[in-house]
Amino acid sequence: MILLNIFLINIIVGILFQLLIEVKSQITNVKPSLRNAHTATFINDKLYILGGVSTDFPNGIPNPPFLYLDVSNSFDTNNLEWHDLTNINNIPPSKYAAAIKGGANNSTLIIYGGQNSTNLAIDLVDTFDTQNNIWNTPNIPGIPPSGKVSIIPIVDYNGLMYLFGGYSPELSIYTNEMFVLDTINLSWKNISSINAPSARVQYGAVFLPNNIILYMGGYNQNVGPLTLNEVYLFDTINDIWTTKITYGSIPSPRYSFSSVLGLDGQSIIIYGGSGHNNGFINQEDSVYVLNINNFNWYIPKISGQMPSSRTFHKSVLIGNYMVITFGEGYTPETESDILLLDISNNEEYVWTKSFNIKNTTPFSPLPSTGPNPNPSSSPAAVIVGAIIGSVIGIAITIGSFFLYKWRKHVKKQDDVLPTSGDEEDQKIIQIPSEKDSSRAISSDHSQEILLISGNTKSSVQQNVDPNSSKNEAISEVIVQK
Ligand SMILES: *[C@@H]1O[C@H](CO)[C@@H](O)[C@H](O)[C@H]1NC(C)=O
Ligand SMILES: *[C@@H]1O[C@H](CO)[C@@H](O)[C@H](O)[C@H]1NC(C)=O
Ligand SMILES: *[C@@H]1O[C@H](CO)[C@@H](O)[C@H](O)[C@H]1NC(C)=O
Repeated sequence: MILLNIFLINIIVGILFQLLIEVKSQITNVKPSLRNAHTATFINDKLYILGGVSTDFPNGIPNPPFLYLDVSNSFDTNNLEWHDLTNINNIPPSKYAAAIKGGANNSTLIIYGGQNSTNLAIDLVDTFDTQNNIWNTPNIPGIPPSGKVSIIPIVDYNGLMYLFGGYSPELSIYTNEMFVLDTINLSWKNISSINAPSARVQYGAVFLPNNIILYMGGYNQNVGPLTLNEVYLFDTINDIWTTKITYGSIPSPRYSFSSVLGLDGQSIIIYGGSGHNNGFINQEDSVYVLNINNFNWYIPKISGQMPSSRTFHKSVLIGNYMVITFGEGYTPETESDILLLDISNNEEYVWTKSFNIKNTTPFSPLPSTGPNPNPSSSPAAVIVGAIIGSVIGIAITIGSFFLYKWRKHVKKQDDVLPTSGDEEDQKIIQIPSEKDSSRAISSDHSQEILLISGNTKSSVQQNVDPNSSKNEAISEVIVQK
């Protein structure tokens, strides 16, 4: 009986604690700064965003650097509730890193490589256990990839993370090697590069239901943006590469676009990216579909308000939506950090602002985290239930009162102090471009390539008005001279 009491007290304390965390994460709701070259990973109803490059801050580190969006309920992209995770983030900021969902319980955020804020390569795997909110940097046996930067990772059904190509700042090379990280056993494996496509970064990659990874496009120093008139299939069962020629309305060569598998499992949808001369892809030219039965490309019919095109963004498939996160090519005053393309109807996709949970196919079942809600009809349980109920009721009442006060307080502050960064951005964007006014927002962003070879960094490129530091460049590509 005493044991039972202790057990019940533990449950009550546990619930109160959870409630506290709930209220706290509400309060830490933030308006994130712009960012690109970040990671976006969907794990158990949460969309985690980590790192990237921010042009809002001199050190280039976005604020907050680690956050998530709760996707367990319907939401509107004009009113996103971000949750700041910076206070439990103890790994250094990274950009151009690779991240997937993996681990033994399939709910660990696995991050490999990228660069730190001084552009040195990060040669580590970091893990974030999303059930216990714990970071780890495990020691991993085997040889890690020579490519560290701008890899687009894929994870298979067995928790194997495929890391193809990438750029090595130490060696100043682009690679076309394929490495595999077993995210469950935590070991490295170097596998065959025979018949692999040429070295590249910032390509498109999609895991197909038949255990084949489809790779396409990207960038390397010899060619620039790589063609989409062929795609490359990596068979993860037999470790064999093959090349397929594509047909139809082939998209122009591009990199830093995003790609997801269509809901029919028969098509690949790509969005955005950069093309020749580091130009943004035009908005009318930003969405293409590849039929993977006949390798035919086509431009899908899309209704809804077409957003400006983005590059160096990340997309994930959630329910019926291709969810596009951050990137460059938009202003936060006019467009949300999150774009939603409803792809449920193959005949007509829809750009939408509302994520409707009812329209989504059910998510994979959640592993239970909190105290086990064992239903029991014993009188003791009923009484305890009632106590817990009223405690929660009181706590919620008090909680919402403080939340209300706090919101009111914040609102007042907002009225007094407009955020200066946002205002400045607005002004920059409204400067009309002399060179090409038809490109609207895109043309206002002069492009710049950061040439990084070894530790030296020089900035070169066309269209940059030296007097206009405000028209500061955004597009950052890792290039070897
Ligand atoms: C992890 O979950 C995904 C679905 O989100 C599933 O397809 C995959 O097979 C799972 N991986 C493992 C190792 O259980
Ligand atoms: C991981 O290791 C266990 C034994 O430690 C083994 O049974 C299992 O097959 C390994 N998994 C993979 C994917 O290699
Ligand atoms: C990985 O394997 C390839 C051959 O498939 C080899 O050329 C390369 O040197 C290996 N890389 C490392 C780091 O072992």
